[in-house]
Amino acid sequence: MKAETYYLETFGCQMNVLDSELVAGQLRRLGLVPVSEPPRADVVLFNTCSVRRHAEDKVLSRLGQLKALKRRRPEMIIAVIGCMAERMGADLLAQTPQVDLVCGPGELDRLPTLISEIRAGGGPRVALSGTGRGRRDDADRRAADDRIELLDLARTPVPGAAVLQSYVRVQRGCDKFCTYCVVPFVRGPERSRPAANIVAEVTRLAEDGCREVTLLGQTVNSYRFADDHQTVSLARLLERVQAVPGIDRVRFVTSFPADWDDDIFRVMRDYPKVMPYLHIPAQSGSDHILRAMCRGYTVAEYLRLMDAARQYVPGIGLAGDFIVGFCGETAEDFRATVALVQRVEYQNIFVFKYSPRPGTSAERVKDDDVPLDVKAARNNELLAVQSEIAHRHKRTLVGGTCEVLVEGYSKVAQRAQRAAEAEQPCEESAPEFAGPAGTARGDQLVGRTPTDQIVVFDGRPEHVGALVRVRIEAVSPLTLFGRLEAVVAPPRTPARGALPILGPD
Ligand code: 5AD
Ligand code: SF4
Repeated sequence: MKAETYYLETFGCQMNVLDSELVAGQLRRLGLVPVSEPPRADVVLFNTCSVRRHAEDKVLSRLGQLKALKRRRPEMIIAVIGCMAERMGADLLAQTPQVDLVCGPGELDRLPTLISEIRAGGGPRVALSGTGRGRRDDADRRAADDRIELLDLARTPVPGAAVLQSYVRVQRGCDKFCTYCVVPFVRGPERSRPAANIVAEVTRLAEDGCREVTLLGQTVNSYRFADDHQTVSLARLLERVQAVPGIDRVRFVTSFPADWDDDIFRVMRDYPKVMPYLHIPAQSGSDHILRAMCRGYTVAEYLRLMDAARQYVPGIGLAGDFIVGFCGETAEDFRATVALVQRVEYQNIFVFKYSPRPGTSAERVKDDDVPLDVKAARNNELLAVQSEIAHRHKRTLVGGTCEVLVEGYSKVAQRAQRAAEAEQPCEESAPEFAGPAGTARGDQLVGRTPTDQIVVFDGRPEHVGALVRVRIEAVSPLTLFGRLEAVVAPPRTPARGALPILGPD
């Protein structure tokens, strides 16, 4: 009998990439196999993002393309899962009747049951957490959260392939309610997972060959889990995770400036496995705009934090997010943002044009008064300023060495990069992997430095999965090019040259 198939497409942030892995694991458990295009699939799933309108429009357009297919094959199941599902709920069924299943991010453990109910003729299904503050009480929700985390098959998208890097969720939801942001409404209240569960999950990943984990939380530095004996902060959690045998690198994203605790800097300084990289969005360089966004810090406080980062952890890679064209943003406010970017000298930034989101307080009470062309011009200007800074900084690395975790061949990496860009459409510009003249592309490997910079160099298949030392010889605005000098630690498991975190196909 022919196996049933699924097609899963992911939009949005790292949280969604992780959710998709977990969902893929659930589906494989049911015996479904992945395919690379919707026409070949029995179940089509879009894991969606609501952060900006553009992200939702893309999903609606993809759903439109499936209309004819669904007419031809009514037995096919079309599922919208994730943040847009939670935000729109049953409206999605009304607006796009080709959809059979709408499932919010807090309900993904119910997917197998929902799919079989639809198969059994039960009709369309909608599973929502109720803006995160409804259907499930806290204890029930926490149990459900951990059920979702613990689906282990999700961690091996390509059976038998070494999983070099993994995301591990440490926290769900957000309580900050920045005035522009839909996340607290679609992902629910902030909840930290038990530290013991996280350490157990990392241990299992390490046993399977994983060398690098990235701890995920919407405001990851607010992580705090209290049991009868003690309270575990992010600093203490990092200490425990980096001590797991087999783990070489630990990262954490995304941090929230107002909750920062310098203890985390001390852990970054004192534990070499905790990588010197900090993604900590400023959003704006103007106090007036930060107040309107309800971010809870001033520019001076943010700059103090950036200075402390460099004092504690010299060479740290700093990354930030910025929203341009927020309600009431004047030319002067924007100049203050440019000045902040110039002052901090980030390694990289993500810039977004403000997009009013239904239900948020900015959308309800503020005027979206910056014209689109002004938003676009500010977006481009900020990226141009940053590109210059990043290129200048990269040039200072030429001649030095860095340690690189080898992820795969650069061709695979190009695909990975394209996928990542589809999720992060505003990051700088498309990276190119054309190496220094005369380099044969087929032999090029790609990996990342401790500060998460991409390095391309010539190597051999047996280097995939290894930690190596590379001497930097040339740079482009987004990529470092180098020469392999030494293997620092060989691969722990047979490497297959696949970047495992990218999903089934
Ligand atoms: N419009 C534009 N950008 C937004 N972000 C969050 N909400 C909005 C919005 N309504 C950006 C912030 C956040 C990143 C993930 O997305 O910069 O840090
Ligand atoms: Fe959104 Fe603010 Fe929470 Fe980040 S901290 S997810 S921007 S509400």
